[in-house]
Amino acid sequence: MAHQWRGVIHEYFDRLDIEAGNPVITLGEGGTPLVDACALAGLVGAERVYLKVEGMNPTGSFKDRGMTMAVSKAVGRGAKAVICASTGNTSASAAAYAAQAGIASVVLIPEGKIALGKLSQAVAHKAQIMQVQGNFDDCLVLARDLAENYPVHLVNSVNPDRIEGQKTGAFEVVERLGYAPDLHVLPVGNAGNYSAYFKGYKEEREAGVIKHLPQMWGYQAEGSAPFTVGHPVKHPDTIATAIRIGNPASWDLAQTAKTESGGRFGAVSDKEILWMHRFLSQEVGVFVEPSSATGAAGLLKAFKQGENLEGKHIVITVTGHGLKDSMWALKDEDGNDIAPQSVSTDAAEVAERLGLSKK
Ligand code: F0G
Repeated sequence: MAHQWRGVIHEYFDRLDIEAGNPVITLGEGGTPLVDACALAGLVGAERVYLKVEGMNPTGSFKDRGMTMAVSKAVGRGAKAVICASTGNTSASAAAYAAQAGIASVVLIPEGKIALGKLSQAVAHKAQIMQVQGNFDDCLVLARDLAENYPVHLVNSVNPDRIEGQKTGAFEVVERLGYAPDLHVLPVGNAGNYSAYFKGYKEEREAGVIKHLPQMWGYQAEGSAPFTVGHPVKHPDTIATAIRIGNPASWDLAQTAKTESGGRFGAVSDKEILWMHRFLSQEVGVFVEPSSATGAAGLLKAFKQGENLEGKHIVITVTGHGLKDSMWALKDEDGNDIAPQSVSTDAAEVAERLGLSKK
């Protein structure tokens, strides 16, 4: 019988830190596709590359896996409002789950630096939105301060309930493949998701489902790459606004994950990110927001620098949907606007413009 996916809490109840009887606030998150990216495997000389397409979540990003846990537990504790700092996706997710729960949401976003699609989601779900005169790191300090001193419950990934929910991404990869990949590659901002996947894989190993842990490879944008430079960055900058973060909240967890998995951190330029963003759309059929292409761009960079990926099975989490930050698809490689041609209703003329000759 066909199985209707019930969201990560119901699907993985026994493996999550949540009590029986806790309310479950869900929008049906998780159960996302693992897409065979042959074109990318060919490009980097790997045996298999799969994309874990997290844009297929209810609000279009991986945040929903953690938000169902964070908001459910907040409601279980009697919270009437949640708060988060966000580069966009967390705010969209928090606002949607708060709406479903019937509680209020407050989101703090860096002024002028979030994609329009994400802002419209937060507005649509009736969040109270504050554009803060500062960057994401400033917003997070402010959110923590407010949550500590006022009756608003923090749902950023410094809240362990978020990481707990997001670890289910690794469970799904293992279930679908039947083994752990050699490498798991992700874009990194606060490094919450990087740490969450590692937690998931570790639990799979402890349960005896997999034998080895994948190496965790995390990539940041060059202008916003504290893990590569080895210390927080004061003025992070990149077109990949989702990961425009200079002081990652999960610094220590991420370092442990890197070391224990034999993984690495790296950085790629905005140009490399946009190139991969286009490649994934054009050659794999998966439309992601630019930030989400950062992991794949990092893998290609490693290959170009001489990394031998022959025989490797690789999973890359692509974190958010392309429709959230769609303006980048409407520009060519040189930054020129792409506009569809205008044609008459005459079939012969349209065929000629398309370069088609009659059958
Ligand atoms: N990709 C996307 C699309 C994101 O929105 C984020 C983070 C990341 C990757 C990085 O994940 O922080 O767990 O390392 N977005 C947060 C937000 C910061 O506010 O939406 P991370």
